[in-house]
Amino acid sequence: MALHDYLRVARKRWRIVLFGLLAGVLGAAAIVWSSPREYSAQVTIYISAQTGADGAAAAYQGSLLSEQKVKSYTRLLTSNRVAQDVVTQLGLDLPAEQVAGKIQAAALPDTVLLTASALDTSPQRAKDIADATGNAFTRMVSQLEQQPGVNLPSAVTARVVEPAALPTTPTSPRPMLDFGLGALLGLVAGYCVALLRQVLDTTVKSTEELHRLTMAPNLGTIAHDPDVPKHPLTVHDRPQSPRAEAFRKIRTNLQFIDVDQPRKTIVITSALPEEGKTTTVCNMAIVLARAAHRVVLVESDLRRPRATDYLGLEGGVGVTSVLSGRVPLDKALQPWGKSTFDVLASGPIPPNPSELLASRHMAGLLAELRDRYDMVLLDAPPLLPVTDAAVLGTICDGALLVARYGKTSKHQIKTAVTALDTVSVPLLGTVFTMAPDSGSNSYYEYYSAPQTEETDLTATMAVDAVSAAPAHRASPHHENGRHGDQVAGRLPVEAMPHGVDRHA
Ligand SMILES: Nc1ncnc2c1ncn2[C@@H]1O[C@H](COP(=O)(O)OP(=O)(O)OP(=O)(O)O)[C@@H](O)[C@H]1O
Ligand SMILES: [Mg+2]
Repeated sequence: MALHDYLRVARKRWRIVLFGLLAGVLGAAAIVWSSPREYSAQVTIYISAQTGADGAAAAYQGSLLSEQKVKSYTRLLTSNRVAQDVVTQLGLDLPAEQVAGKIQAAALPDTVLLTASALDTSPQRAKDIADATGNAFTRMVSQLEQQPGVNLPSAVTARVVEPAALPTTPTSPRPMLDFGLGALLGLVAGYCVALLRQVLDTTVKSTEELHRLTMAPNLGTIAHDPDVPKHPLTVHDRPQSPRAEAFRKIRTNLQFIDVDQPRKTIVITSALPEEGKTTTVCNMAIVLARAAHRVVLVESDLRRPRATDYLGLEGGVGVTSVLSGRVPLDKALQPWGKSTFDVLASGPIPPNPSELLASRHMAGLLAELRDRYDMVLLDAPPLLPVTDAAVLGTICDGALLVARYGKTSKHQIKTAVTALDTVSVPLLGTVFTMAPDSGSNSYYEYYSAPQTEETDLTATMAVDAVSAAPAHRASPHHENGRHGDQVAGRLPVEAMPHGVDRHA
């Protein structure tokens, strides 16, 4: 990973990093608040040794002796014997071991100086213990160094050269240091968790990755929009929004998938439920119809049909009614909106959707729709839980795979592709849904003038006309008058890529 990858992790998972930082600061606050204030007072003790002789050599030997003694005395300073003397001097109601634990001794390097620090929750008592330690220690040294039976001054003496001062600021806690450390540790811990999640995250988050896994072109990316659950038909409700533009891009890209062999019947599926298939197929049907294609949307998800809900239509009569022979196709088809495209609802939900979709009747129904329309879009269930989409794919020209950003794992995408491959269903392309809105498209709203359905249609036709042939077929609904208002502008999909007459 390069440096910018690490920064990207922090930016993408900033909430975890921020949580770590806050947890660190709060932890430090808890420590500062709960730990008792401790004060430290310190005495400095000077060790001197006399060898009993005069001259420079003797002075040098004395100094060496002092330095050697300093090391042993450092241990003695924290001994129970000194601590017991301190308890006696101060009349403390504490065991000697506890007082010894309050004293810390250190030898100043390359000197004959010792320091004894006393820690206590009371500044005065810390000072008293430090001073008493100094006195107890000097007394103990003179006793230890006194030659027994010889009435001479001891060879080594210890003197307090700097009595303890009354401490005014506590040594712990130190709020600034504690908060700084807490924040730093929290930040590092938060970032580590973010990094770990990034490494363990196997979901697909880029179109490049999607392409690598499917080996199919990405036709478009639809941004996540919290408004979609309430208003799924973005291209209709907000035609000038970046999401609507993304659907128009999908339409354009769809037309260029295989110019030699235009695909008319397309099953829209995904690996898992709730990836945005139905929302995508409804919006695609609208944009394709607005580009003057004769479109029929088939609600072929016979398990959780939602397309008719999103489109505000009735789902009671549809595919299953036609397949059972109870309702003729013409009666089951419903026009959407101002007759821009037709919808074949699911009809009553059958107990055996897979068998029904694999039936010869279904293939016959699809063949009929293929004849009547330029584009047949089938909203299918997901591939991993059920076989319906793969079964449908075998009687269609190909499949479009919808993948939800940050939800579908690489493994699930691969399994879905394998499911299509196994039954030789061509994967025409992918649509990435619910991707975070990076704002990269935000200029579009500014750039584009508010569009009406009509301006949308005109603009689209200008694009489509580049690859469209002049001829157009009569719509089946033109004959029965249902689509008469739009037929004049319709361009058949199969005529588009070749035989271009740009002057027509
Ligand atoms: N771009 C989007 N931004 C935000 N929410 C979305 C978007 N697209 C779809 N949704 C929401 O996600 C949910 C699932 O969408 P949809 O029904 O289209 O998925 P599906 O793949 O067809 O699900 P199922 O597998 O159940 O048929 C719905 O609540 C829908 O409103
Ligand atoms: Mg659906």
